[in-house]
Amino acid sequence: MGKWFAVLYDTVMGPLEKRWIARIRKKIVSGLEGNVLEIGAGTGANFPYYANEMVKRVVTLEPNPYMIDQAKRRAKEVELPVEFYQGRAETLPFKDGEFDTVVATLVLCSVSEPQKVFQEMRRVCKKGGKIVLFEHVRTESKSLAAMQDVLTPAWKRLCDGCHLNRDTGRYMKESGIKVVIEKKYLKGIFVEYEGLNPK
Ligand SMILES: C[S@@+](CC[C@H](N)C(=O)[O-])C[C@H]1O[C@@H](n2cnc3c(N)ncnc32)[C@H](O)[C@@H]1O
Repeated sequence: MGKWFAVLYDTVMGPLEKRWIARIRKKIVSGLEGNVLEIGAGTGANFPYYANEMVKRVVTLEPNPYMIDQAKRRAKEVELPVEFYQGRAETLPFKDGEFDTVVATLVLCSVSEPQKVFQEMRRVCKKGGKIVLFEHVRTESKSLAAMQDVLTPAWKRLCDGCHLNRDTGRYMKESGIKVVIEKKYLKGIFVEYEGLNPK
């Protein structure tokens, strides 16, 4: 499953990327600074937007080895020096406060333990550092959320563990991250979050 998900990911996402998601990636990634960690980096779709002199180091962590292979090719194409780690964001192999910014795009829907992932993101992010996300989430619309609940079991099997109905914003806030930007798209199915790791 992990292999096919990796092989098909860019092709399936292509039309949506071109129309819309690439713009969001550019918006949230291109202004980042310092040492950046991206969890669940997948095929490296954000890599083209890191290239700026304010970014010192880009480190990625991803469990799926087939995704990592594709991301390595993408890093070469865009000539971005990237450090690759294979692993899960529930246990990050990094020091406390090692990063100025932690990024995740379309990842929290797929992790097994979102609360643990937010704790780990906070631990490795320096105090006052940024935690930046773009995610699809459980909507506030009761009827749409009910549909997300019905579709999630089949969707999870089809899309490598992805939950359509994950309440990522709630987990983020409960983790103690101070949310400073919460911008909703498409009836709140997609949300861009910028959070600060409290001092
Ligand atoms: C929908 S893809 C998104 C990939 C990429 N972030 C993007 O924006 O295109 C979800 C990614 O999360 C990764 N993932 C799943 N569980 C994870 C975990 N526990 N820790 C880190 N990444 C995980 C998957 O392997 C996959 O690459």
